[in-house]
Amino acid sequence: MNKKERINTLRRSLERHNHLYYIEAQPEISDREYDALLTELQSLEDAHPQWADPTSPTQRVGGQPLSHFNTIAHALPMRSLANTYSKEELLEFDQRTRKLLPQTPIEYIVEPKIDGVAISLRYENGLLIHALTRGDGTAGDDVTANVRTIRSIPLRLQTDTPPAILEVRGEIYLDRNGFQTLNQQRQEDGLEPFANPRNACAGSLKLLNPTEVAQRPLDALFYGSGQCEGIQFDTHENLLDQLKTLGLRTTPQRWKESDPQRLLSTLDQLESLRPEFPFEMDGAVIKVNQRDLYERLGATAKSPRWAVAYKYEPEQAETTLLDITVQVGRTGVLTPVAELQPVQLAGTTVKRATLHNQDEIQRKDIRIHDRVIIEKAGEIIPIVLATVPAKRPANTQPFQMPTHCPECQSPVERLEGEVALRCTDLQCPAQVRSWIEHYAARGAMDITGLGESMVEQLVARQLIHNPADLYQLTANDFADLERTGERSIANLLNGIEESKKRPFSKLLFGLGIRHVGKTAAETLANAFPDIDALMQASAEELEDLHDIGPIVARSLITYFENPAARDVMEALRTAGVTLHREAANTTGTALSGNTFVLTGTLETMTRDQAGDRIKALGGKVSSSISKKTSYLVAGAAAGSKLTKAEKLGVPIVTETELLALLDTPTPPTENDQLDLL
Ligand code: IVH
Repeated sequence: MNKKERINTLRRSLERHNHLYYIEAQPEISDREYDALLTELQSLEDAHPQWADPTSPTQRVGGQPLSHFNTIAHALPMRSLANTYSKEELLEFDQRTRKLLPQTPIEYIVEPKIDGVAISLRYENGLLIHALTRGDGTAGDDVTANVRTIRSIPLRLQTDTPPAILEVRGEIYLDRNGFQTLNQQRQEDGLEPFANPRNACAGSLKLLNPTEVAQRPLDALFYGSGQCEGIQFDTHENLLDQLKTLGLRTTPQRWKESDPQRLLSTLDQLESLRPEFPFEMDGAVIKVNQRDLYERLGATAKSPRWAVAYKYEPEQAETTLLDITVQVGRTGVLTPVAELQPVQLAGTTVKRATLHNQDEIQRKDIRIHDRVIIEKAGEIIPIVLATVPAKRPANTQPFQMPTHCPECQSPVERLEGEVALRCTDLQCPAQVRSWIEHYAARGAMDITGLGESMVEQLVARQLIHNPADLYQLTANDFADLERTGERSIANLLNGIEESKKRPFSKLLFGLGIRHVGKTAAETLANAFPDIDALMQASAEELEDLHDIGPIVARSLITYFENPAARDVMEALRTAGVTLHREAANTTGTALSGNTFVLTGTLETMTRDQAGDRIKALGGKVSSSISKKTSYLVAGAAAGSKLTKAEKLGVPIVTETELLALLDTPTPPTENDQLDLL
């Protein structure tokens, strides 16, 4: 295969894997393999700039920061929807529609109303030309560079016969997990947290630097069309189906209903699914299914008459603010927390709510003993929306944040440009505790048995001050700790010992360096052979890496400049913790060509640990079963995956059998599979 063919093959293959991962949620290769393909493509493209292509998978992130967004006119206006707030109003909508279309049988499609930011994508001959926000409805901001970083959005439609023009309309959103992580990060960095996922999403889309946007976990769903040439849709259902075939994500659930009463019960069904969707849903959208009726129905100045929104009530409750406590996080940021009289909200009992920071408390004038309205707009932790001034008891005082850390009594400071207050003492037990908890967490060094209460006791007794101290612990150190049987101590020490073998990327993530999340840690571990090379890297070298922006680069440099951090690295090295990338020749190949799916609870290791061991021997681990799966490893209480594997005839192995496979020195082949098992 010549270089040009290889480039094309790589581009198609990366597009396919991207689709499998982001749209189908059925990845066939590991992140590492994906990165290897991407790196190969990048270096071929670097060597052959004549074959550059803006729709190449290497071109999602990059380009210079913009100075402003251009405004571009929409080919067809982007309207909004009329809102209804009650079932009566919705029935009126139905009656109006029927009146406008006498003698016509009407079908409605009901789908979730996603609370994000409206977007219009234009594809010409299958290629993404631009992405515009709604703006004033007639012209919007050109946010193409930012939208290209969203990996579930195809840069090229998945078809060999693309339409000449296809404008698709939908919603960009930030899912709840992404929102939470982003806000936590912002608080640790002393920045004002976003009020809700929609604001966070809008703020992200308005960033002028696409590299920064790439680090925000934005996603998109599509539900409509603008200008179209060479493609048509008879019904709304058909539009959704065709968009899906072209590789675009569409709204996840929909109902078809003609009967008005049944339509109403559909709305309740959809509302009950609200907690299950990963995105914020602020209502339902009801659309006439038959698109040939749209013209007859027409539009008002603002909104079409063929669709309407039905808005759900935000979930709120009133309760008493008993106290405001102050927590100290991993990077020393002080966060005020509302301690509430327990109250039912959206199906859970709420006792605490976040207050973000001093500015927010002052702005809302929240005082201890106030009656407060709390709201759960999808956030996992609810927020205090406002106080009820009429119910304020006498003699309340405005709340003041402490001047000294509630954990270690060191003075707190407010860094320039930051809203948050920070404890300045790096030895502060609160910071040490959350540092160690982060280090030991799943996804980082995964130390089983090192839970919150154990960490608390070890830190309180000054047995550990940083992660490296864990490796100095002996059974004697646990002698007078609470709730520690001999067996659990042995397990913990074993867990600590095992963690020395974790891959370099997990260690980098576990160090808890500000702004270095899992993805950045993996990028760094792929780019640098060992910790020494990383510690010597310049800001330019770091920023050259895909996914590493100036903020992450600066944070790494500052971290490694600190002599205390360097001491920790040395202590980790002495303890024998893996501080280098796996050398290619130490990676086994015994399981290469085999894809494993893990399900249920394993006894001797976690599923992540089993996955790491499989990968170390060249095997792949996938989260979903298909005919291509080589083995399903079924632990205790395995569920639907087991049933599916049985149905597809995928070989099922027990944990013991997996352990045998992991010890196998030679690659299993089709023929000796049975003997092995
Ligand atoms: S259809 C003519 N469907 O809600 C406008 N909109 O409040 C047709 N939205 O502008 C829009 N989910 O940004 C439609 N499933 C959905 C939606 C949806 C969210 C947004 C959209 C729209 C706004 C109206």
